Amino acid sequence: MDRFDIRGGVRLAGELTIKGSKNAALPMMTATLLTSEPVILRDVPDLADIRNMHRLLGELGCTVEYTASDDIEAPGGVMRMQATDETISHARYEVVRTMRASISTLGPMLARRGAARVSLPGGCAIGERPVDLHLRGLTALGADITLDSGDIIARIPRVGGKRGRLRGARVFMGGPFGSTVLGTANVMAAATLAEGTTVIECAACEPEIVDMANLLIAMGARIEGAGSPRITVHGVSELGGVDYRVMPDRIEAGTYMCAAAITGGDLTLHNCPADSLMAHMDRLQQMGVTLQYGSNLPTADLMRARCRVCASVPGGRLLPVEATTQPHPGFPTDLQAQLMAVACLADGNSVITERIFTERFLHVAELSRMGAQLYRQGPTVIVSGVPRLKGAPVMASDLRASACLVLAGLAAEGTTVVNRVYHLDRGYERMDERLRALGADVVRVSEKEAAV
Ligand code: EPU
Repeated sequence: MDRFDIRGGVRLAGELTIKGSKNAALPMMTATLLTSEPVILRDVPDLADIRNMHRLLGELGCTVEYTASDDIEAPGGVMRMQATDETISHARYEVVRTMRASISTLGPMLARRGAARVSLPGGCAIGERPVDLHLRGLTALGADITLDSGDIIARIPRVGGKRGRLRGARVFMGGPFGSTVLGTANVMAAATLAEGTTVIECAACEPEIVDMANLLIAMGARIEGAGSPRITVHGVSELGGVDYRVMPDRIEAGTYMCAAAITGGDLTLHNCPADSLMAHMDRLQQMGVTLQYGSNLPTADLMRARCRVCASVPGGRLLPVEATTQPHPGFPTDLQAQLMAVACLADGNSVITERIFTERFLHVAELSRMGAQLYRQGPTVIVSGVPRLKGAPVMASDLRASACLVLAGLAAEGTTVVNRVYHLDRGYERMDERLRALGADVVRVSEKEAAV
C-alpha cells in the first residue's frame, strides 16, 4: 500500500482549483437508475469511491463511461451513464462493503424497477452507521422490506397482478444524531417516481442534498424545499436524461483551508463553495486566519467563489478554538479531524466535540504520536496547543483522519510517514501532486518502491 513521506515546515503558497464533490456525485450517479435516458455528470472527481460506484452501476445494468481530465487543475472529468438493462437489481456485499454510499442505489432502483436487493453496509472505521432511517422512509412510501443473508430486500407490492408504484407519504428522517444525508437522498429520489406527494420532514439540509434535488429537477422531478428541513416531492410517472455539473467539494476546500492555516500559508482557492463552508470559515477566522471570498456576492456565485486564505500571523501562533460538529449549516463532521490538526499548534486550549459520529477519533492517538497534547473525554477532545509537532510514522483507517495526519505532517518538524494512503485516495484526488504544486515536500512512495 502506498504511503506519503512528508518533510514538514514549508509554508504553502499558490492557487488551486477545488474538484467536484465526491459526496454529491456518489448519490447523483445513482439517479441513472431512475431513467432509461442518458445521465451526464460533469466535474466528477477521479477517486476510488467514484470508481467503486462506477463498477456497481455497471453490475446493475448501466453503461458507464468516465473521461478523466489530464489537467490537475480541472475540477473533474465527465461521467456518461445509461441504464440499459433493468433486470439486475442486486448490489452485492463485495462492492457495498468497500463503499457505504452504495446504499444510495436502493431508493432509485426500488422506485423504477419495483424491487431491489442491496447488501447491508455494516459498520466502518468511524462507527456503527445504521441505515434504519433509510428503511423506515422507504417503508412509509409503501415498500415491503425484509432482510435475508445480510441483504436488504425491498419490493413494491403488486396491485391486481401488475407492478405497483410507491405512494407519496409524510416521512420523518430525523435520528438521534440529526437527519441522515444519504437517507434523505434515497427517499427523495424514490419519491420522484411515487404516486402522489411526499413530504420529507427533518430532511438533511446539506448542500449535497440541494445539488441532488437540482439534478432530479433537471431530469423532470417536481421537488420543493431542498436545503430546508421540509422537502416536498410531487411524484411524476417518468424522468428523463440530463447533463449536469456537480457542485465543488466543500470538504476538499475546507481541508486545503486547513493546509494554509497549519503552515502559516497563503492560498487562493478557485471554484470554492464558500457558501457551504460558513461554519468552518468562522472557526478559522476565530483562530486568526484571514479569509477573503467576496462575502457580498450573490449565493450562487459564493458556491463557486475565489477564496483567499491567509494564515501568516506575524511572529505569532493561531488562537485556540471551540468547535462542535452538527448537521449543516453547523460545523461539519467531515472537517473535525482536519481542524483538530490545526488546533494542535494553536496558542492555548481548544475544545472539539463530535456529535454526529461520536467515535470518529481515529486521528487522536496518531496525532499524539507526533507530540500533540490531546485529552479525550467521551465525544470531546481538549487540545492543548504545543509550539511544534514532530514527524513520526502514522496511519489511520479513515479518510478524514488520514487527511488530518497529512496536515499535521505538513507542519511538523522532520519527516512524517503517512501509511496506507488509499484511504486518502478515496476522497482527495492526487493530493500529493496538488500539495507539491503549492510548495510542500510530499512524496508518494508506492508499495513496490517501498519494498526495494
Ligand atoms: N444514522 C442513523 N440511522 C440511519 C442513518 C444514519 O442513526 O439510518 C446516524 C449515523 O449513524 C450518524 C448520523 O445519523 O450518527 C448521520 O449519518 P448520515 O446518514 O447523515 O451519514 P451518511 O449519509 O451515511 C454522509 C457522508 C459522510 C458524512 C455524513 C454526515 C456521503 C457519501 N457520506 O454519510 O461523509 O460524514 O453524511 O455529514 O455523502 C466522508 O466523506 O468522509 C464521510 C464519511
